Amino acid sequence: PEISQPDAVEFAVVWKQPTGAVASLPNLKALQSFGAGVDSILSDLTLPASLPLARIVDPHLTASMLEYLDTVLNYYRLRFDEFGTNQQQQLWKPRSPRKIRHLTVLGLGELGSAAARHFAGLGYAVSGWSGRLHQIDGVQCFAGDHQFAEAVAEADLLICLLPLTGATENLLNEARLAQLKTGAILVNVARGAIVDDEALLCALQTGKLAAACLDVFRIEPLPVEHPFWTTSGILLTPHISAVTNADTAVAQIAENYRRVQAGLPLLNQVDRTRGY
Ligand code: GLV
Repeated sequence: PEISQPDAVEFAVVWKQPTGAVASLPNLKALQSFGAGVDSILSDLTLPASLPLARIVDPHLTASMLEYLDTVLNYYRLRFDEFGTNQQQQLWKPRSPRKIRHLTVLGLGELGSAAARHFAGLGYAVSGWSGRLHQIDGVQCFAGDHQFAEAVAEADLLICLLPLTGATENLLNEARLAQLKTGAILVNVARGAIVDDEALLCALQTGKLAAACLDVFRIEPLPVEHPFWTTSGILLTPHISAVTNADTAVAQIAENYRRVQAGLPLLNQVDRTRGY
């Protein structure tokens, strides 16, 4: 509401904008997301259909995600979760590391393919699953619903890095979680709504999942009454796995502004029909 001359605005940098805010700028030539994901921007159904949209693709974002995933993997591998619980009961119970050998990465976009490559390079057996088939050296790639079961069958650790779209919302439901190996660990660093909350709680209760590390939630901040806060087996972080770095993002955003002014295509443009 503070924009006094809506028709003077040609370029907008947005993140979780109020519904209708973008549509109220009649001369907008392009939109730029503050982050890697664009689901919160595209969920505004008043968004003009032909408006180009770009997102952040940044090596800093990728490095931060890999650091988070390395940490999580080693946390579980070295059983820090169990030792943390044991400490509360003053229990001295040495154990050898968990056998985490096979990882499956769901989503092979910018971050997912980097994660798959990274862990394959460290010697893990890595499978990747995505909407469209990818080819990544050292990674066994699967695509589409019919290959989901095969893609996750061997996973000791399942890393979700899918974009949130109509096709991935609630993808990790009861039926798909049932296709995991018993005792698998889920790491969701994508979007909360890809996982069915109830199905996840149930999979932890039954022991289908040994643990879940969640950085993203259907509602953020996670409401205080949400059971995820207190469910044993859940490690929770407040959406910090890969935060946009202002220093590097600004240069990219400025470049896209220049491109729009020069009539050139945007860097890192999103396919609006695919939603990512
Ligand atoms: C963070 O979740 C992002 O999409 O950049």
